[in-house]
Amino acid sequence: METVMLKVDPERPDEDNLKYAAAVLKRGGLVAFPTETVYGLGALISKREAVKRIFEVKGRPLDNPLIVHVNGVQMFLELVEGPPEEVVRLAEKFWPGPLTIVWWKKPLVPDEVTAGLSKVAIRSPAHPVAMKLIELSGEAIAAPSANRSGKPSPTRAEHVASDLYGLVDIIIDAGETIHGLESTIVDLTSSPPRLLRPGALPIEEVERALGVKVEIPHYARGHGEAEVALSPGMKYKHYAPEAELVVVEADDYSSKLADMVAKVRELASRAKEGRKRVAVLCSSETCDEYSDLGVEVFDLGPRRNLFVVAKRLFAVLRELDTRGVEYAVAEGFEERGLGLAIMNRLRKASGGGIVRV
Ligand code: TXA
Ligand code: MG
Repeated sequence: METVMLKVDPERPDEDNLKYAAAVLKRGGLVAFPTETVYGLGALISKREAVKRIFEVKGRPLDNPLIVHVNGVQMFLELVEGPPEEVVRLAEKFWPGPLTIVWWKKPLVPDEVTAGLSKVAIRSPAHPVAMKLIELSGEAIAAPSANRSGKPSPTRAEHVASDLYGLVDIIIDAGETIHGLESTIVDLTSSPPRLLRPGALPIEEVERALGVKVEIPHYARGHGEAEVALSPGMKYKHYAPEAELVVVEADDYSSKLADMVAKVRELASRAKEGRKRVAVLCSSETCDEYSDLGVEVFDLGPRRNLFVVAKRLFAVLRELDTRGVEYAVAEGFEERGLGLAIMNRLRKASGGGIVRV
């Protein structure tokens, strides 16, 4: 298939280009588009064949449901069964933005979208291109991240092209996404609400808005797997680079930082002696500690500003593959604020290769 690349300005996207993309969606086509989190691969929710094709081109397991993208709370209310006031208030507070709400679906949301579940995951993205595209389509857009299943989510159109070129109708290129990490997914049907996936909106902010503690299951921290019925997407290997990745975690990133650095050095040097192509993923504060090892060093960003780390993480994981790295060691980060989502992605990318100091 011929894939059309459409370059648009992220803040003031050319309307003719987006009209064309909306027309392709209405014909049952697939369009990759930027959101403020990562790029998504979209189909209109009513186009069941197109929705099925999303699973095919991504190589996505059929029991892993898609997130539905709406333009505002009104459109959300058309798709779900009478959510209580606190759910609507939460949506109003954080939308448009990187919060995905799981709630009971109306029958008009096709089973293809929710993989047969009776709940649907919905968010209202904050990117001008995504917002305009939904508006012009006149319908909600089902969209998982626009990567081949198992790969890191795309934060640039080139990442999408490298996974899906020739398999989708259009890739809209609006440059780098803002957060670089996917949305935070909360199931509000359970009591207390349950975090299904930490993401770009720190869960502490959701707790503050709701006035209750959210349950954070083991799998939301990136350990183990979710039960199928709970959130299918949590049970598959994810974000994994070709390289073997090991994450070195400390139980305290102030007092044990030096121990963590020593362990990263030890693992990286040992792999290097084994003649492997080695990389270290580190914080800006500690990257200098590895400059004498003769390995590739990737600065993820400062521990004091995890926004930067979150934004760079997926691009760096992809870069490991581009450079043919065979073995990588990543420093851990404190599991607070965005740190929870960063550690979830690192642990999943490592496939459980975790070392503690
Ligand atoms: O930021 C994001 O959320 C991006 C952009 C494109 O919006 N999308 C994204 O989609 O990350 P995806 O498909 O890569 O991840 C969606 C996750 C999956 O883990 C899936 O299992 C879960 O959401 N999910 C979707 N519908 C669900 C449902 N009804 N119940 C529980 N989990 C659901
Ligand atoms: Mg994904």
